[in-house]
Amino acid sequence: MRRIAIVVGSARADSLNGKLATALKLLGADRFDFHGVKIDDFPFFDQDVAKSPPAAVLRMKREILDADGVIFVTPEHNRSITSLLKNAIDWGSRPVLQSCWIGKPGAILGISPGQTGTAAAQQHLRNILSPQQVILMGKPEMYVHYAEGMFGEWGEASDEGLRKRLDAFLDAYAAWVTRVGVEKRA
Ligand code: FNR
Repeated sequence: MRRIAIVVGSARADSLNGKLATALKLLGADRFDFHGVKIDDFPFFDQDVAKSPPAAVLRMKREILDADGVIFVTPEHNRSITSLLKNAIDWGSRPVLQSCWIGKPGAILGISPGQTGTAAAQQHLRNILSPQQVILMGKPEMYVHYAEGMFGEWGEASDEGLRKRLDAFLDAYAAWVTRVGVEKRA
């Protein structure tokens, strides 16, 4: 089964995006071997520190390099992605020509209590990931507007509409990973 890394742009305990990632993992367990990637134990990116990257950064890069694809679950902070997520992408992008993101079949989704459901953040994320050569799936777009009761006791998508959307997203992503092909580097 293909191994897919999931990067969530929020580390808070009650994160809606963490819940969305869990619902995705539960629903897609028949299609993918998901692996949640920890990104909240790095320092802020600094080119001086990057001369000798922290072990946590090397761990994240290894996990991404070993994956057949990457799914980003992004919150929206001030109409962009979180600094946590940007920090992880920056760390992964260095040293030059050794970005862990290159060639990975990617997909983006996100949830917010706001009406636009992280659309602005996702657009920014596309801009950021494009030069990293993440090969992003274009459709279906998953801008999720949070509503009470969307997630069940076990973390599953208890809302039928959300479940159907996630299911279609997973099917499309499975086809996308096949189509793009998988490039793994040492
Ligand atoms: C937000 N929030 C938010 N929501 C949104 O839809 N558009 C936005 O621009 C912002 N901006 C923003 C800035 C900051 C600093 C915070 C703390 C929050 C609300 C945000 O969507 C909400 O807190 C989500 O629950 C954050 O995602 P997680 O942490 O629950 O995954």
